[in-house]
Amino acid sequence: MTEHNIAVIPGDLNGITVTNAVLKVSNEALGNLLEKPIKHTTFAYNADYFLKENITELGDMELDELKQYDQIFLGAIGDPTKIKPGILEVGILLKLRQAFDQYVNLRPVILPDGVKSVLVGKTSKDINFEICRENSEGLYVDEGHIENEGTDAEVGIQIMRCSYKGVKRLSEYAIERAKLRKKSDKPTLHFVFKTNVLKYAAAPWQRVFNELKDSEEINVRYMHIDNFIMQMLINPAQFDVVITENMFGDIATDAGAVLQGGIGSAVSGNINPTGTFPSMFEPIHGTAPDKWYEGDGHGGYKEGSFVEEKTKDVKPEAAFMSYAMMLEQMGEVKAAAALKEAALNNIRKENYQELKLDELIENAINFIKEYNGWLNVKRNTLW
Ligand code: IPM
Ligand code: MN
Repeated sequence: MTEHNIAVIPGDLNGITVTNAVLKVSNEALGNLLEKPIKHTTFAYNADYFLKENITELGDMELDELKQYDQIFLGAIGDPTKIKPGILEVGILLKLRQAFDQYVNLRPVILPDGVKSVLVGKTSKDINFEICRENSEGLYVDEGHIENEGTDAEVGIQIMRCSYKGVKRLSEYAIERAKLRKKSDKPTLHFVFKTNVLKYAAAPWQRVFNELKDSEEINVRYMHIDNFIMQMLINPAQFDVVITENMFGDIATDAGAVLQGGIGSAVSGNINPTGTFPSMFEPIHGTAPDKWYEGDGHGGYKEGSFVEEKTKDVKPEAAFMSYAMMLEQMGEVKAAAALKEAALNNIRKENYQELKLDELIENAINFIKEYNGWLNVKRNTLW
């Protein structure tokens, strides 16, 4: 193949803004660092599309289209003034993760050098691990029902499906990842679940743990999710690679995002390690409706209250870094390192919070162009 074919789903609000930002930097600054040129094809799958097509999830037509691409970059989806929260999340994000069997959600919790931790006294030496969130099953399989709806006997039932194969393949990916990271002589893999309560769903987790626990090549440990979140705050240095169920991973990685420098720089790769379908890379932050609309005082937003000035405060760094993670997975290590460092260079600036979107984009472009050393990058940075 002569070029990388990337499908781009900007999404809504902030998602569109950060996607435009990263495409501008990619097109203007990365060209001569790439082994092969990148062709971006944009798909407007978002709130407007769902309203226009009158759909609640992407269908075969959209999936058939997307699956032809090498990778997918996604900005962020959701506009609560147009579609009730929940529909697009399930109909686009969860749909793609499951349909394309992106069974690993790789979320590094790595505090970069020179970025201040929210944990007093902790530095980049202490905060350096990766959470591999199970991304195709668990509590997010979208199965369940409501009994006796509207009566006093109403009960909502949600299924947590954990399969042996699902846990096994996740653990295999995590072990490979831990070996590549080389955090210490012997990599450490933590299983995180809630085996003391969720006894049915825990069975496959326990079984895979038992199979691996006496491994010679890795240390294998287990922790309950509640303890894990506490340990992330008290002693993050003990972690190397962590695997956990879908919802536990969703929750833990938001806390992880804060530890690694804030949700504004947290990245996420929805990875299909087999390559049968494209993987999808996205910043963890959402569409930030608070940067677009006036609040209604109840956690919602006033329809049609767009405030243009607010959108200039959007930060594109998480999108830069997610795109960089995609480049790294594509073997484009020079461009990946350049873009990642450009994002970090912005974040490390004393007056970062005051900088406007246009300045951050310009800074990133200039930072990449002004340094020739990128051509010497030979290996993945592995975050
Ligand atoms: C995330 C988000 C999504 C998730 C939602 C929007 C479906 O919170 O990527 O972490 O829960 O996975
Ligand atoms: Mn989340």
